Amino acid sequence: MNHKAQVQLETYTVEDTQQFGQLLGKWVKQSGDPLCIALIGDLGTGKTHLSQGIAKGFGVTEEITSPTFAIMNTYDVDRTHLYHFDVYRLDDISELENIGFYEYTEDCVSIVEWADKFSDELPDETLWIYLTRIDDTSRSITLSSDYLTKDDLVDIGGPYVVGN
Ligand SMILES: Nc1ncnc2c1ncn2[C@@H]1O[C@H](COP(=O)(O)OP(=O)(O)O)[C@@H](O)[C@H]1O
Ligand SMILES: [Mg+2]
Repeated sequence: MNHKAQVQLETYTVEDTQQFGQLLGKWVKQSGDPLCIALIGDLGTGKTHLSQGIAKGFGVTEEITSPTFAIMNTYDVDRTHLYHFDVYRLDDISELENIGFYEYTEDCVSIVEWADKFSDELPDETLWIYLTRIDDTSRSITLSSDYLTKDDLVDIGGPYVVGN
């Protein structure tokens, strides 16, 4: 994670992580620009719970689930879309083309769980989010980007920012 801007967050409950996701989802929706949100972290660190918060903040009203088997779920909000990928089960970049991965991640708002499997395939317009487990209920979350500024990241992290 060696990007131009980086900010460190911590959450102490699963609700905190979802709340942070909502802040991010709202921010993205308001910006109106495409953004690829790349989630990186071991199993159980909170990628799917964070995605649920992002979707809620973006305006998705239905319950969102991890697209581990579907690979991609699409949510419609007003006239915009949110594309939620879980690329854990994909092995080859040729499979990405088949599912429209490049188009959706470059031109739309997307969330990609297990983005580190295909980090070279993601656009410049990416917000990298690294999740690590501190203990049962706490998570360290690093926001990192070449595209968003440090001010953007501080804005997005809100009360969960712990230092940078
Ligand atoms: N601070 C926290 N943030 C996110 N998840 C947490 C936190 N504390 C505990 N958890 C738990 O960790 C698990 C995260 O699961 P999930 O979101 O499916 O992870 P992943 O998608 O990364 O595999 C859930 O059981 C959740 O309740
Ligand atoms: Mg998951």
